[in-house]
Amino acid sequence: VKAQLVIPAAGMGRRLDAPLPKALVRIVDAPLLVHTLRRFQTVNLTGPTLVLYPEGWRETFEAELAAHDLVERVELVVGGAERQDSVRIGIEALDAATEVVAVHDAARPFVSPVSVRHCLEEAYEYSAATVAIPAVDTILQVSEDGFLEHTPDRARMWACQTPQAFRVDAIRAAHEAAERAGHTATDDASLIRWHGGSVKIVMGTAHNIKVTTPADLTLAEMWLKDNVTCIE
Ligand code: CTP
Ligand code: MG
Repeated sequence: VKAQLVIPAAGMGRRLDAPLPKALVRIVDAPLLVHTLRRFQTVNLTGPTLVLYPEGWRETFEAELAAHDLVERVELVVGGAERQDSVRIGIEALDAATEVVAVHDAARPFVSPVSVRHCLEEAYEYSAATVAIPAVDTILQVSEDGFLEHTPDRARMWACQTPQAFRVDAIRAAHEAAERAGHTATDDASLIRWHGGSVKIVMGTAHNIKVTTPADLTLAEMWLKDNVTCIE
C-alpha cells in the first residue's frame, strides 16, 4: 500500500501565545514539529511527508528541518488560512501513486506509531479512519446563554485525535464538496461523515495530547525529558 503523510503545521498557535508559529516552538532539544516527525520514523511511508507551513516562514522551517536531518523525508508546502484549507492543499499535493493518506497535526508529538499503523490499515479497508479515545469527562451540551441543555451518554462519547487516514479519492471528494458548499469542520473525518461516508474508530492513547496551551507545553517538556512515550 502506498501511504503518504500530511502534517498541518501552518497554525500560529494563538492559544499558546508564543512569538513563533506553534510548530517551531522549542521543547527540550527540538521544535514541536521535529518531535512529531520523529514519531513517524518507524512507519512505512511512500513519498515525502508534506508539511504545511504558515506563509512567510519557509526559510525558518527549512533551517529547522536541516538542523535535525529531516530534509530528505519532508517537502514544505505553504498552508492556508484555516486548518481545513491547509489539509486540502496538502491533499492536492500528494504523489499521484499514493493510495492512502494519513493526516496528523504537528501539535501532537506523542502519537503512538502503533496507532498510526492501525489507522492506515483501517483506512485502507474502510476508506476512512480516525484515532480517538473514550471520553474521560462527561460531555455537556451547553446553550448559548450558558445553561446545561443535554448530557449525552458518556459511554458513547469519544475524544477525537489524529492521525486520521483516508483513501485519497474519498478525502479529495469530501474536501471538494465542502469547498463548493462552504462547509467547515474542525477535522477531516467529520468532513467524510458530512459527505455521507463512514469512519472507523481506532483506539488512541492518553499521551497523544494536542499541545495547545502553555500548560500543555509544560507537560510536553516533562514527558520528553522522562521519555514517557517511548514504550508505546
Ligand atoms: N493548522 C494549519 N493551518 C492553519 C491552522 C492550523 O495547518 N491555518 C494546524 C496547526 O499548525 C496544528 C493543527 O492544525 O498543527 C491543529 O491546530 P491547532 O492546534 O488549533 O493549532 P493553531 O491553529 O496553530 O493554534 P490556535 O488555534 O491556538 O491558534
Ligand atoms: Mg487552531
